[in-house]
Amino acid sequence: MIDLTKTIDLSTTYLGLKLKNPLVASSSPMGADVGNVRRMEDAGAAAVVLPSLFEEQIEMESEELDRFLGESAERGPEAATHLPELQHAVNGPDVYLKHIQRCKQAVQIPVIASLNGSTKGGWLTYAKQMAQAGADALELNIYYIPVDADLSGEEVERRYVELVQEINQQISIPVAVKLGPYFSSMANFARKLDSAGANGLVLFNRFYQPDYDLEALEVVPNLILSNSHDLFLRLHWVAVLYGQVKADLAVTGGVHTATDVVKAMMAGAKVAMMTSALLQRGINYLDKLATELLVWMGEHEYDSIRQMQGSMSRNAVPQPRAFERANYMKVLSSYAMR
Ligand SMILES: Cc1cc2nc3c(=O)[nH]c(=O)nc-3n(C[C@H](O)[C@H](O)[C@H](O)COP(=O)(O)O)c2cc1C
Repeated sequence: MIDLTKTIDLSTTYLGLKLKNPLVASSSPMGADVGNVRRMEDAGAAAVVLPSLFEEQIEMESEELDRFLGESAERGPEAATHLPELQHAVNGPDVYLKHIQRCKQAVQIPVIASLNGSTKGGWLTYAKQMAQAGADALELNIYYIPVDADLSGEEVERRYVELVQEINQQISIPVAVKLGPYFSSMANFARKLDSAGANGLVLFNRFYQPDYDLEALEVVPNLILSNSHDLFLRLHWVAVLYGQVKADLAVTGGVHTATDVVKAMMAGAKVAMMTSALLQRGINYLDKLATELLVWMGEHEYDSIRQMQGSMSRNAVPQPRAFERANYMKVLSSYAMR
């Protein structure tokens, strides 16, 4: 019989923020609604990442603005005071900043803004405005697909590093970098991001791989929600990076159950983020998850999340080679023996 009255400490820290538990709602359209953000807090989310403001959105708005100002100059100074059109031109990012402010007023939990892009440019200055609007931290999602055969891996990495440095010059709130898994030397690259000033690494972006429509002979978008199998890639790299980087590690991708959260913590994550699970089961699922987490911890005699964090990282387990090539043959033969 588990004694749920026994105090189990679910608290953790992430990006210097004190969180009541490790359950974080990751960036998704759900966070575009203040009511949903409030429901996430009520259901037990310890922090929420807002949906991304995209580089393309910002650039599009500023091109519209430039065009408007150019046309106004041609038409004479009085045209430049034609505010409704101008307001329309700056609507996108402006709405985002207001949304940050409204969320901050609505909830006590930390609100993390998200910028999504891949090139150096004016859009990065929005990081500053997000901080001014009250965001507690910024998640920079660098979603870049290098399709140019002339571009070396080193150049791609430099691009990421420069973006992180640039953002850090803009703001003093903590910055987490959300990235994909496709780097030749993940641990080395993670260190570079560390040195560039990343306070957190969010592992991993899911690359949405287009499908073919064979009747229309078209390439079509294809968004499949995750399942717990997607967690393994994240566990592997969090376990490897734990202790090798200063940045806090966050898992995003494949967190669906309380035991998924436990695994993420044991690998070495500070937080376990969720989108698919909440889209599939509703925001209130967070409440059930927090209870199941407490029950699991009670049954297994854990007093705190901190006690678990990193306890099954690569350096902590008796067989660190399980994370390396050495395990490959064993894995393959384990299937044959089933
Ligand atoms: C419909 C949808 C919209 C998303 N929008 C964003 C976004 O705007 N920015 C971002 O960084 N990630 C976005 N994501 C990715 C999620 O934050 C998350 O990293 C990913 O879904 C993997 O986590 P999961 O397995 O819990 O779903 C989105 C995911 C989904 C399914």
